[in-house]
Amino acid sequence: MTWTPDSWQTKPVVQQPTYPDRAALDAAVGTLKGLPPLVTSWEVNRLKSEFAAASRGERFVLQGGDCAESFADCRSDLITNRLKVLLQMSLVLTHGLKKRVTRVGRFAGQYAKPRSTDTETKNGVTLPSYRGDLVNAPEFTAEARIPDPQRLLEAHSRSAMTINFVRGLIDGGFADLHHPEYWDLDWVQHAPLAAQYQATVDAIGDSLRFMETLAGQSLADLQRVDFYTSHEALLLWAEQAQTRQVPRQPGWFNLSTHFPWIGLRTAALDGAHVEYCRGIANPVGVKVGPTMGADWVLALCEAINPQREEGKMVLIHRMGVGKIAAHLPAVIEAVNKSGHPVLWLADPMHGNTQTAGNGLKTRAFDDVAGELQQSFRIHRECGSRLGGVHLELTGEDVTECTGGARKLTETDLERAYKSSVDPRLNYEQALELALKIVDSAAH
Ligand code: PEP
Ligand code: CO
Repeated sequence: MTWTPDSWQTKPVVQQPTYPDRAALDAAVGTLKGLPPLVTSWEVNRLKSEFAAASRGERFVLQGGDCAESFADCRSDLITNRLKVLLQMSLVLTHGLKKRVTRVGRFAGQYAKPRSTDTETKNGVTLPSYRGDLVNAPEFTAEARIPDPQRLLEAHSRSAMTINFVRGLIDGGFADLHHPEYWDLDWVQHAPLAAQYQATVDAIGDSLRFMETLAGQSLADLQRVDFYTSHEALLLWAEQAQTRQVPRQPGWFNLSTHFPWIGLRTAALDGAHVEYCRGIANPVGVKVGPTMGADWVLALCEAINPQREEGKMVLIHRMGVGKIAAHLPAVIEAVNKSGHPVLWLADPMHGNTQTAGNGLKTRAFDDVAGELQQSFRIHRECGSRLGGVHLELTGEDVTECTGGARKLTETDLERAYKSSVDPRLNYEQALELALKIVDSAAH
């Protein structure tokens, strides 16, 4: 039962690459262990207390970003646009829900992906599957697909560049509520919902000025918003190497991210991922799918949060619009009965993936919005509370999900389909979803 950062190695492990050169892996893990961390323990603890507040209904969590980051996408324009859309959405949410919003990016480390098979075969050639830029490269060549431990170090550098840029923008005033015009995207004027968004911006500006007139000073606390980072804790060599003890704080912290989560494919109770995550002080998320019974979910709560600490355990349900009504209530009722404090987030993306007629992976906006609407209703009916959402989105003008105010069709998908993994909401669809969230929370 003793836990150490590497005790996961004694458990059954899935979704890990086979590194051909063990000495090179050990060397990379050793180097990574000595590099400066990406986040600090006090930021991790602050996020945990914000999660506790969200579970009590005092805050709302907006977690979002790419399905997978790639090394090539570590660019200032893409990072800025992603921040812009998250800031715009959180403005709509703060205004509509009358709550402060905690922003968590799926970024600065979201470089590893689970795969349904270990290998991929094309024209009679079988190669290892692409597992994300943290592991290998996507091109279908033997060379590209060899798992390369140097990528652990490259991913750490790119994550550090990303988080450094985000921190710099925030400190420089980019996220200042007095200047929402900083967040405008080039194509916003033509968006179907531009007028509705502008009305929210104006209303917030008016209330800010009103409060500042009353207070006789500027509301410094409101000028600042923070961003936290998150990624799927999938490649355990990388997580282990960044797990540290810090002075004057008990426990071990994963300092590669504020908020690691366990994916659906790695949530086995006796598996390596649960073993690793049970020992860290960070808040931990677990994806909950339609095939996970209440007993499994309760056992995960008990394993990861035996002390029943508030803000520690985050259950992210991703059922699918057609399944949520049948599967979620029993899980919520069991958690309620056990008294485990959990933060519930809804991921309306991963249960709603389909293949379009032209072979592209897509998601329909109405399915995504529909699962969210049902999530709010089911939590209300079960006497619990939906504390936030978990989304795949981008600030780019892509066409990967169908529907939304611009009514994208399957044929439209070909115009700007960029994702190499899951389809993301584009900027307009993301903003529209923020408006729908406000609506679903109220009804
Ligand atoms: C993901 O979040 O990108 C993902 C793979 O989700 P899940 O584990 O819920 O399928
Ligand atoms: Co995904």
